[in-house]
Amino acid sequence: MAKFDNSFTDELRQRLSLVDVISRRVPLVKKGQNYWGCCPFHNEKTPSFSVSEDKGFYHCFGCGEHGDIISFVMKSENIDFKEAIKELADMAGMKLPEIKQKTREQIEAEENYIQITESATKKYQELLYTESGKHALEYIKKRGFSDEMIKKYRIGYAPKNNIIASMFNNIKHEKLVSTGLVKIGEYGPYDFFRDKLMFPIFNAHNQVVAFSGRSLDGSEPKYINTTDTELFHKRQTIFGFNFARDAIHRANRSIIVEGQIDAIQMQNHGFGETVAPLGTALTEDHIAILCKSNRNIIFCFDGDNAGQKAAVRACTLVLPFLRDNSDVKFAFVTGGKDPDEILKTSGESAMRKIIDNATPLIDFLWETVNKNYLINTPGGRAQAEKYLKDCLSKITDKIFQNEIENEYNNRKFNQWHKWKKTEYTPEIELPDIDIMTTNVIKSIVQTYPEITEKYIDFLTSLNISFDEDVQKTDLSLEDAEKFIISFKLQRYIKKLETEKQVLLSKALSGDEYNSDELNNINNKINEAKEKLELLMDIKK
Ligand code: UTP
Ligand code: MN
Repeated sequence: MAKFDNSFTDELRQRLSLVDVISRRVPLVKKGQNYWGCCPFHNEKTPSFSVSEDKGFYHCFGCGEHGDIISFVMKSENIDFKEAIKELADMAGMKLPEIKQKTREQIEAEENYIQITESATKKYQELLYTESGKHALEYIKKRGFSDEMIKKYRIGYAPKNNIIASMFNNIKHEKLVSTGLVKIGEYGPYDFFRDKLMFPIFNAHNQVVAFSGRSLDGSEPKYINTTDTELFHKRQTIFGFNFARDAIHRANRSIIVEGQIDAIQMQNHGFGETVAPLGTALTEDHIAILCKSNRNIIFCFDGDNAGQKAAVRACTLVLPFLRDNSDVKFAFVTGGKDPDEILKTSGESAMRKIIDNATPLIDFLWETVNKNYLINTPGGRAQAEKYLKDCLSKITDKIFQNEIENEYNNRKFNQWHKWKKTEYTPEIELPDIDIMTTNVIKSIVQTYPEITEKYIDFLTSLNISFDEDVQKTDLSLEDAEKFIISFKLQRYIKKLETEKQVLLSKALSGDEYNSDELNNINNKINEAKEKLELLMDIKK
């Protein structure tokens, strides 16, 4: 049997919804926490097959069959593990990893690598407390780092000379180069990090695999990171994750901030669950790693324009990972540049307020389209709708996707179109609509957004409040539309009859009136009545 990396099958499980996959073969209904259907593995008429999206397992109380997403595909399609993985990977849009066994040389090379980075870390740590690192120590202390924090995060100082290149003069150059710490130049090997404040980057086993060095003399770029190596892939590494993992489990959420100093300060001010990407770009892989712990993420961005942009990007990246029980929010730092600054100047409570006031993803996305498109023009609304639709299509859980779509349809109706209500001034007062009819209309609006959109002008002119939740209607789409049309016709006829009344009373009181106008109204009334009759006929 082919062996796949556990992380690949884990990722498959993370990306795919068990309910979605099973629903393709077995109709499922949600009852309580779980989904239920008729077992595909034995014959039954009443459902005893239960599926738990949370736990990632199905279980049949009738025949005892149980398993996870992979065994479901294997058993239901009678295929082997490898084929099932392939099919699931297709569904998830993931490429199958190449299966390769590590050779002895590779294992040795990795051990060498870690030995080098470990020695380098120790050396940098030492140097921070020597004369040559004095300015670096002063700097990091000024940034609010205690000796304890410096020790915990193993912060150090890379001196101006080529310390690493000379330290390991008995080791082959290529081994040093493989760690990214040394480069080969015209005059031989030289250190990549020089005169930098050094932040080690750890892997899941708390081994140092790379470094991020901050410049101390104001030179740009402010940070340089180890370029990718065999053991370090920037796009797949989250700064601070090794320290945050337990806290992420305990808090049942993670917080992502933009900078690594922000992450460290957050971790040391009551937000142990905080991490940061390396460099500014957040990737899908970063989110996938966090989602392995849980799907509750608070993105905390700087309050500037770049932060807003990064948030929109994060939002699109996180959509495929959403489940109906995920809690994803967006917080923006206000009253300071970044979390580090907030913690320093206003303290933990100010930061907690920012985190607690984070905007849920659904609202953030809605606010984003409302900000970015000209919602009071049809073109702008169309663009916004396309954008929303594109976003929603990324959500893999179809039921959840549908719910969000309904939510947005409601908002479109209430917030985009309702403004028309204030512009509408009926020339003729019509009697109030009775409670029964009002309720039917409300429930149609709740049930069929497409009808709502089509008759939006008419519906808003009725002066009914559509804000509160009502039950969905039992009427079919077709009947619901007929109901609206016939009601519209009736209102129209009533309006014409009131107009006619006004004309006739003018005539009675001897005022001048236009007989053509009266004929005209009579014709319109007859025409509308005919239409209404026709509609009622079809209804039968
Ligand atoms: P910022 O410019 O917001 O820096 O970059 P910062 O975190 O506030 O840095 P301090 O507080 O001045 O030390 C945010 C993150 O972007 C990456 C770093 O990971 C940084 O933490 N970055 C920034 C780079 O990789 N290179 C740069 O030149 C600048
Ligand atoms: Mn900062």
